[in-house]
Amino acid sequence: MTFVELVHAFLGEAAVAVVVTDAQLDRPGPTILYANAAFGRLTGRDHIEVIGMRPCFMQGKETRRVTLDAFHHALSAGRRFHAFLTNYRPDGTRYRVEIDCRPFRGVDGRLVAFIAFQREVIRRVGRPTSGEGGRYASRDSSNNLLAHHLRAMRVFEPGLIFEREIDGFGS
Ligand SMILES: Cc1cc2nc3c(=O)[nH]c(=O)nc-3n(C[C@H](O)[C@H](O)[C@H](O)COP(=O)(O)O)c2cc1C
Repeated sequence: MTFVELVHAFLGEAAVAVVVTDAQLDRPGPTILYANAAFGRLTGRDHIEVIGMRPCFMQGKETRRVTLDAFHHALSAGRRFHAFLTNYRPDGTRYRVEIDCRPFRGVDGRLVAFIAFQREVIRRVGRPTSGEGGRYASRDSSNNLLAHHLRAMRVFEPGLIFEREIDGFGS
């Protein structure tokens, strides 16, 4: 069973958006190998049609370059990347997305692919809290169905110091 088949078997029907890319980091960047149906709903595209495309198609005017540079930097170092980005749907609507992207290594330690968990978030009203999610809240409460499993994998949990320095973490 390949990594993509495994992801599809476990997360194909999941409420959380999942996208897998190859490990090609040189420009023009990684290519999508797999996306589940929730990723299609999140991005406003057919999740089969995005295979072969590059995730940068979702970027636009308000996608912060500094966050993308941090993204690139983390992936190049083989590290997890967790942050918020502004992305766009084909009809031009803008949305805020929380991305938790992780390197996937083969048994020999070689980088094989990247997998990203994504969910739409909205800004919380009032003072940012220091607890879970900080100033953003998940838009889709059905993600809670997976909450237990995602927590076990520490998905969407802040963990690295550099996250506090970029887009939306900390206060
Ligand atoms: C698995 C994976 C998922 C990604 N998903 C998104 C995404 O949803 N939106 C986005 O703007 N960039 C996403 N990216 C980041 C871009 O592919 C790219 O790595 C980023 O723009 C930094 O590269 P650059 O410096 O060439 O722009 C994703 C990357 C990976 C590896």
